[in-house]
Amino acid sequence: MIPDNNKALDLLNCYVKEQSNLDHNLIVGYGMLGIAKYLEKDETEQNYWFVAGVLHDIDIEEYGDCIEKHCIIGEEILKKEGLSKNLIDDIKSHNDVLNIERNSEIRYALWAVDALSGIIRAYVLMRPDKDVKKAELKSIKKKIKDKSFAQNVSREQIKSCEENLKMTLDDFVDSVLKEVKENISFN
Ligand SMILES: [Fe+2]
Ligand SMILES: [Fe+2]
Repeated sequence: MIPDNNKALDLLNCYVKEQSNLDHNLIVGYGMLGIAKYLEKDETEQNYWFVAGVLHDIDIEEYGDCIEKHCIIGEEILKKEGLSKNLIDDIKSHNDVLNIERNSEIRYALWAVDALSGIIRAYVLMRPDKDVKKAELKSIKKKIKDKSFAQNVSREQIKSCEENLKMTLDDFVDSVLKEVKENISFN
């Protein structure tokens, strides 16, 4: 089963409680929707991409320090909830430790949006007004360039959009940011 958008949001809220973790999954979900729209996916595919993003870290509060368990616990949760195997496999592919081949646009997108999410959230929280609506493409790009900002975020992973999705960094960031600004508030 592929849940619709509302069901996916319900599942997220059921398993993830910490605000920072909710924010992260939401940014990735709406970011994935933005990329799916840019790539002119149809509505069914857009739903699939959104759901993959929103549920990609469903086990984020469960696996603790053991990264090997990340997405394995998630798989158990999502299986129990009746989600389709192909969706679970696409989600699992974002954990590098599991060595699952990234061989499709959705897997490439999930990997790159996951990293970009870290920059966007850190940037918004740094602003005194915490207003995501004021986040501009050029500010986010500046932070991507600034290696001292959100140091743990892999810039290489973000920039993989160019080779893997044939999107410029501008188009990639812009597509993610547009949906995030329309749908999420951090304050
Ligand atoms: Fe993850
Ligand atoms: Fe993530």
